Amino acid sequence: MTSLKWWQSAVFYQIYPRSFADGNGDGIGDFIGITQKLDYLKDLGVDALWLSPHFPSPNWDCGYDISDYTGVAPEYGTLEDFKNFLSESHKRNLRVILDLVLNHTSDEHPWFLESKSSRDNPKADWYVWMDAPPNNWQSCFDGEAWTYVPERNQYYYHYFMKQQPDLNWHNPEVKQAMWDAVHFWLDLGVDGFRLDAIGTIYEDPGLTPHNVPMNLAELRRFSELAQTDEEKKLKDRYWADMFKNQWGQPGTHELMKELRAILDEYEGDRMLVGEDDNIAYMGNGSDELHLVFNFPLMRTEHITPGHIRQNQTERLQQLNALSNKGWPCNTLGNHDCSRIYSRFGDKLHDTELARLNVALVLTLKGTPYLYNGEEIGMTDYMLTDISQVRDTMGSWYYHAIVTDMGVHPEEAMIRTAEMTRDKNRTPMHWSNKPNAGFSPDGVETWLPINPNYREGINVWEQEQNPASLLNYYKRLLKVRKSSSALIEGEYTPLHENAQDYFAFLRISENQTALVILNYSENRLDLDFSNVKGAKDKTLYTLFSSAVRSTASHKAEKLTIAPFEVFIAEVAS
Ligand code: GLC
Repeated sequence: MTSLKWWQSAVFYQIYPRSFADGNGDGIGDFIGITQKLDYLKDLGVDALWLSPHFPSPNWDCGYDISDYTGVAPEYGTLEDFKNFLSESHKRNLRVILDLVLNHTSDEHPWFLESKSSRDNPKADWYVWMDAPPNNWQSCFDGEAWTYVPERNQYYYHYFMKQQPDLNWHNPEVKQAMWDAVHFWLDLGVDGFRLDAIGTIYEDPGLTPHNVPMNLAELRRFSELAQTDEEKKLKDRYWADMFKNQWGQPGTHELMKELRAILDEYEGDRMLVGEDDNIAYMGNGSDELHLVFNFPLMRTEHITPGHIRQNQTERLQQLNALSNKGWPCNTLGNHDCSRIYSRFGDKLHDTELARLNVALVLTLKGTPYLYNGEEIGMTDYMLTDISQVRDTMGSWYYHAIVTDMGVHPEEAMIRTAEMTRDKNRTPMHWSNKPNAGFSPDGVETWLPINPNYREGINVWEQEQNPASLLNYYKRLLKVRKSSSALIEGEYTPLHENAQDYFAFLRISENQTALVILNYSENRLDLDFSNVKGAKDKTLYTLFSSAVRSTASHKAEKLTIAPFEVFIAEVAS
């Protein structure tokens, strides 16, 4: 087919290691478990895996607080287990990218322990130290951004939790140490990295204070209670204003270029995807990141045809404007946000909407990223007791509103369950056996299992059922894989005023595909005969989520069922 690089045509699947598969029966996912599931992933039809952090960590931020960048967390296994996982993945043609957290380490990392031990140790300047808090900056997770250390009688800066001190990236030794870790994993053969929170790496050198009349907990509470449009707008403005001097500051582009140059030294088209939606981090299209996520697509309450069209127009224009044209990257969910099934459902047609939304991600131009569990329709799980909460940003908030704001513990728990990311990180459902087949019966899993695994939301049952969401994913992934139009075709929106449905063409050199996503409960009679390239043409069904009696259709009279996903090849 194609001149595309592997990371342009691949479908990525995010594995959250703690919750994916428990190979040794201790209630926590691990590499033995992941390796056992590689055939499942191959059979699902994905091509590349992104692992959330698997490094040693005290787990204040579920692994995003790393205490050793070249190790494997003991609960996930050994370096040998990792190597075995990597080689078994590669044997199956599954690429593997790791999470690279540049902004901060754990406060238990030896670098920080040394740095905080005195003002004149060799790593004294590896983090951001001040004699007194220079401003009112907040951490986005737990209140004040400056935390006191008696040994130095100084304060260090942390954008995230206080257990996640920010590295001082102006210090060349920090860079060198981190690049050594990057080499370590690239030498082992990993195919690239997802770069965590790159916007937070540098801070405003002027240390300009924010001007929001609230602290973090108050702003969160204000946001929860915002009702009117005005209040909602205000809260958005406050969030942006609160962190604007701690985000997207100069220096990052140079750093991304340096990192890109390291990857380019290696064979095999190693790649970088940034946790940021700013296309500027792709540089000229070939000198910084290979991909950044199209987060604006998911930053909405409802996925509607109008929202998608507008998003695509803006995004593709921006990407095409780069001198070496950027490649899109679409996703609707990850470990930080509500699960697609819950977030973009309407309580009446959740399954239909879940089917439409994954079809969207798999048919838009660009590299799709899926999140583990979405293929079986896993939903958010609301915790009911504070002792269950593992996401410490959640427990911090609970205590802040109960203690400082006098919110009733019952209400505080409901709010916490909604805002904590635990709800979308519960263990994967492998079967309808106790503990969802994730861990042996009787073992306490690290987060509770969502009891709805007994209602058909599990891999084993869905594998038996041809009509299941899982089998729908498999069929769709197969169709995508065999269609040059869906993988590399240009995007042309059709019927741009339609509110009920989103229709578009994907056109590659040797195939034109018509995609129609009916986001409504209406049956549609559509006419595509005026569409350039489709006039008088026959449409051959490549995929339909509805039952269709014939495989070929006339472009001028196409009937689409309620909520149908329809993909057809336009005959040449
Ligand atoms: C990123 C991660 C998130 C983590 C944060 C701090 O946003 O996706 O899970 O808490 O960075 O590392």
